[in-house]
Amino acid sequence: MAPPLMEPSHGEVDIVNLQVRYAPHMPLVLRGLTCTLPGGMKTGIVGRTGSGKSTLVQALFRIIEPAVGHIVIDGVHISKIGLHDLRSRLSIIPQDPTMFEGTREEQSGST
Ligand SMILES: Nc1ncnc2c1ncn2[C@@H]1O[C@H](COP(=O)(O)OP(=O)(O)OP(=O)(O)O)[C@@H](O)[C@H]1O
Ligand SMILES: [Mg+2]
Repeated sequence: MAPPLMEPSHGEVDIVNLQVRYAPHMPLVLRGLTCTLPGGMKTGIVGRTGSGKSTLVQALFRIIEPAVGHIVIDGVHISKIGLHDLRSRLSIIPQDPTMFEGTREEQSGST
């Protein structure tokens, strides 16, 4: 059984020399990314199309395995965190989230 995340969870994400490719014969998409996402706050990731934002998210969720490097959350290597624990504790707001469009009609007397 996978060990639980350390409690209370601070939420610091350490990304160390992350190198990710989609297949062995394909070039690296992430070429040695190292950074720390502080716990307790929201972090925005920006970059032009194709720069690897979604790829990073897939590595965080362990949808793709890095070729080199690793990700640590609160001191625990994500490969040691159960998939359900990992995925249920990460919140991602993608680009172009569906927001309300247009004007909102005021309605009175109904809910
Ligand atoms: N499933 C895949 N197989 C092979 N290559 C892929 C795959 N998904 C993405 N790529 C390639 O990886 C690179 C990074 O793509 P990624 O989708 O991570 O970029 P992004 O920053 O999320 O872009 P966007 O802003 O358009 O969403 C691009 O060169 C893309 O073509
Ligand atoms: Mg994307």
